[in-house]
Amino acid sequence: MATIDLHAVQKSFGPIHVLEPVDLQIRSGEFVVLVGPSGCGKSTLLRMIAGLEEATGGDILIAGQRVNDMEPKDRNIAMVFQSYALYPHMSVAGNMSYSLKLRKTARERIAEAVKGAAETLGLAKLVDRKPRALSGGQRQRVAMGRAIVRQPQAFLFDEPLSNLDARLREQMRAEIKKLHQRLGATSIYVTHDQIEAMTLADRIVALDAGRIQQIGTPLDLYQRPANRFVAGFIGSPAMNFVSGRYRAGVEGRSPHLDADDASIPLGDLRITDGRAVTVGIRPEHIAFAGPEAPYAIDCAVELVEPTGVGTIVHLRFGDVAVKAYRPGYGEWKAGERLRILAPFEHIHVFDGETGMRIEHA
Ligand SMILES: Nc1ncnc2c1ncn2[C@@H]1O[C@H](COP(=O)(O)OP(=O)(O)OP(=O)(O)O)[C@@H](O)[C@H]1O
Ligand SMILES: [Mg+2]
Repeated sequence: MATIDLHAVQKSFGPIHVLEPVDLQIRSGEFVVLVGPSGCGKSTLLRMIAGLEEATGGDILIAGQRVNDMEPKDRNIAMVFQSYALYPHMSVAGNMSYSLKLRKTARERIAEAVKGAAETLGLAKLVDRKPRALSGGQRQRVAMGRAIVRQPQAFLFDEPLSNLDARLREQMRAEIKKLHQRLGATSIYVTHDQIEAMTLADRIVALDAGRIQQIGTPLDLYQRPANRFVAGFIGSPAMNFVSGRYRAGVEGRSPHLDADDASIPLGDLRITDGRAVTVGIRPEHIAFAGPEAPYAIDCAVELVEPTGVGTIVHLRFGDVAVKAYRPGYGEWKAGERLRILAPFEHIHVFDGETGMRIEHA
């Protein structure tokens, strides 16, 4: 397996910058997940690594070798797409063996590779079928099989599960994780799915508007998002935000966020008085308060969504919409009032202008 190194890799289409210089070092055997909103440049980055798109600047190294000028087929990388792109007139075995045939691999070796991959992916009984006679999940597995037989130096996945229903996705997600545990292949995986990103990644790369916003383990991004974009992007339901001004503690009051319709205590945070800040708190960290609690924010319950595992309570105070999450069921009803607290140990603070995280103990 191979390392992948990107040094100031960038891309523009004519005058339009799609990717600002990207620096990323991927270890051999590492599973890196790329997330970001639609159009932020995820597929473009993958396609440049695969050689399907030319970088307009920077160096792409695979196993330490610069590949910018190398043909896709010589990069020894396999890509699995969202649309499986199977050949409809070929059987499962034919699809899986096609790239090996092109490379003039010996027949016995091809048969062995296809058999191995089909067994690994639970396709052994389906090798003679045509793609149209397969379910979505089975087709997806054929596409993966096609990648595996080539024994590439690295795998690139571009939203490979997004065409599957929820149940199949969950199953295939676990399959991909097991496959990675077995093959230990260096992988870059693009997804919109929070759970895929959190569960599959050794590290997540969060991209927005062609720029890397943060690189870290799933928990790094979840617990210490570097900026407001990452804070809002990672986690579902998403983090809540309240904007206002920092007020230093005077006359025995602790420092707090002074917002239009709320005042949120900020523990021992010491920053410039009056600085514009945004406070973030995840739905699962919102506390419900009794009538006497100081600083509690009085909210209207707008909607209650029981998900089965838990309940999402949609709340509002002033112009601010807030979601709270609790495992299990509750007796909340739309139209009621509820008092909430944002415990300081769970609060994230961001600069009101730049959106950058402001550290606190
Ligand atoms: N050939 C092209 N010519 C001009 N612009 C392009 C071309 N290919 C992609 N783009 C633009 O580059 C940007 C990044 O596209 P890309 O496909 O990498 O996004 P993405 O992050 O994969 O989005 P999605 O999540 O929707 O798949 C988009 O704004 C897109 O319109
Ligand atoms: Mg894409």
